[in-house]
Amino acid sequence: MSTNPDVKIYEYDAVIVGAGLAGLAAAKELTEAGMKTAIITKLHPLRSHSGAAQGGINAALHPDDSTELHEFDTVKGSDYLADQDCVELMCTKAPETIRWAERMGAVFSRDEKGDIAIRPFGGQSKPRACYAKDRTGLAVLQAIYEQAHRAGIEVYDEWYAADLLYKDGKVSGVAAYDIRNSKPAIFNAKVTMFATGGHGRAYRFNSNAHANTGDSLSIVARHGLPLEDMEFVQFHPSGLGGSGVLISEAARGEGGRLFNSLGERFMEKYAPNAMELASRDVVSRAIMEEVRQGRGVGKDGQSVNIDLTHLDPEIILTRLPELRELAIAFQGQDMLKEAIHISATAHYSMGGIPTNINCQVRKSPTEFVEGFYAAGECSCVSVHGANRLGANSVLEALLFGRHAGENMVKELQEGNIELRKATVSDADTMLAEMHKLKTSNGTERVPTLRVELQDGMTKNAGVFRTKESLEEQITLIDNLLERFNHIRIDDKSNTFNTDLQEAIELGHMLEFSKFIVDGALNREESRGGHYREDFPTRDDKNYLKHTYAYMDKEFNMTHEWGEVVLGKFEPKERTY
Ligand code: FUM
Repeated sequence: MSTNPDVKIYEYDAVIVGAGLAGLAAAKELTEAGMKTAIITKLHPLRSHSGAAQGGINAALHPDDSTELHEFDTVKGSDYLADQDCVELMCTKAPETIRWAERMGAVFSRDEKGDIAIRPFGGQSKPRACYAKDRTGLAVLQAIYEQAHRAGIEVYDEWYAADLLYKDGKVSGVAAYDIRNSKPAIFNAKVTMFATGGHGRAYRFNSNAHANTGDSLSIVARHGLPLEDMEFVQFHPSGLGGSGVLISEAARGEGGRLFNSLGERFMEKYAPNAMELASRDVVSRAIMEEVRQGRGVGKDGQSVNIDLTHLDPEIILTRLPELRELAIAFQGQDMLKEAIHISATAHYSMGGIPTNINCQVRKSPTEFVEGFYAAGECSCVSVHGANRLGANSVLEALLFGRHAGENMVKELQEGNIELRKATVSDADTMLAEMHKLKTSNGTERVPTLRVELQDGMTKNAGVFRTKESLEEQITLIDNLLERFNHIRIDDKSNTFNTDLQEAIELGHMLEFSKFIVDGALNREESRGGHYREDFPTRDDKNYLKHTYAYMDKEFNMTHEWGEVVLGKFEPKERTY
């Protein structure tokens, strides 16, 4: 029985956790179809990380481009690990998705003819990233939020969803608490969706918001459900040298060039055709290799230069204004006048909660959880495989978020789902976790453990990996998991207890990081964003497969393999 009878019980047709583009797009569909829908989110929707997407959203809009070419680039970029049925759906629906976003009110930049402007991005045969200056995510997020609001979505912002209600193969909502006063509640629902975004904060040097702590991944895994392809983490080539803050690929798309400390345009060696616009994994490895060879710049020699000074200043002032401001604010470098220091930064997670093409969550490669959906970066549908193309993620979030919403509406309209009777004891697991963290009186501190984790992930499970580095990181994580039992937080109150929230988040980061490292150790090949120096080539014979990983209560891992959906594009050697 619950120790807290004050648990409030809410009832909804649909509950969505996360209010970025995927969550809002789904909520809008559901609400407009008359479904009683709640969104639970740690942040106000307009502060979600979708708003930080800078450079663009892909669609083959222009006459000399085609959806088939977009598909090909996406599959090649994925190092052939993407599921080609899902890629086909995404690329063929991309043009309609842009027009839909425009009808919702998203204001895209225009070209001289008045059409939606497009810019080149890495790994793509044609320019196809539609953009709103360098604030594309924000422009789209604001529009979808306004429209979802107009449709009447109910938002529980500054609420923390801490547990999934999962029993007998079915999900029936979540347990959550109000961050303002720590009051617990059960959100009972016929269908539940996770759209919680990425988990780049596991790395010290990253481009992600503070909130991107990957909570939903370990919440799912704690119920014995799998995570897919977690070893594939994308390192974006251009994070500001000292901080990792994103300098959009648009900087290279608009003509930015990379130089090492000797003034060499080093991409000539690594990708002689595509140069700075090779795919992200290729450019990130090239940057880190230059740094390793002692040809880095900056006070610690850990960066390279990106130079835009040869461009017409108007291009920077009108298309990249935010990037310029960021580089001035964080580094005191003005890209109009000088090259700025950048380095590869943890940016995006290709892996996540496994789903099928309809965004239904899998409980194994071949079975599904009832009443449970996921979309956006927390999910693995999988359209990005081992490496995502720039400007495919805003597309994925918007398109699959909407698609999940439509599929949930269909399932609800079929009327076969009973609303299960919730009881206050459904909150027991969450309440026990909160109680334990608040009363634990050890000597370990959350920030110390978090920094140790992040430093280790950057060093041992970063752009380059080996058996030794990964084993070192597993040992480190196991040690941190043990020390996590002895943490102490100072704030024991119930009011905006961010100490408590950060402790809960650290628990999640430790657990899902083990999936990343263990998956990387298990995959003895190099593919996309996963580069094993001890296995430097792709091995399709043994590893053209999705990883499904499971964790038990003692944090031991097991794996099985899932089939990749192949299609019209045969795996080939990938060169740029
Ligand atoms: O570089 C960027 O603007 C990031 C875009 C993306 O990750 O899709």
